[in-house]
Amino acid sequence: RQVLVLNGPNLGRLGSREPDVYGDTTHAGLAERCRRLGAELGLDVEVRQTDDEAELVGWLHEAADDATPVVLNPAAFTHYSYALRDACAQLRAPLVEVHISNPAAREVFRHTSVVAGVATGTVAGFGPASYDLALRAVADTPS
Ligand code: DQA
Repeated sequence: RQVLVLNGPNLGRLGSREPDVYGDTTHAGLAERCRRLGAELGLDVEVRQTDDEAELVGWLHEAADDATPVVLNPAAFTHYSYALRDACAQLRAPLVEVHISNPAAREVFRHTSVVAGVATGTVAGFGPASYDLALRAVADTPS
């Protein structure tokens, strides 16, 4: 079973970006971790990252057309991108919203997720392990 792990803006800078908030795992390290756990769970995991809203929307269209499950960290788009939400609403397989940090425990502008209402569920606050939990959720959720 194929799964797309999609990471939004600034997540390509993991490792050097605010390590006190996001830890020291790089994006490449995170991607490897996802692929390895995915293989254990019988999932064929592909990890992509972009800073471009249009590119992310395009990947979600692809997942909608192919009925592919998605693990999505929308990063800052979480908080304001209705275009991303509308793209997520078209998905036909499980969608897990993930965050490395716990946005609810941070600045007020991070308390709103425009994606949460169209996600199957959300995992936040566990560092890179948020992705592990999200992949386990996909493996356990029929689509
Ligand atoms: C984030 C939380 C967002 O508020 C922030 O804009 C990010 C990363 C997280 O994974 O904790 O870029 O999605």
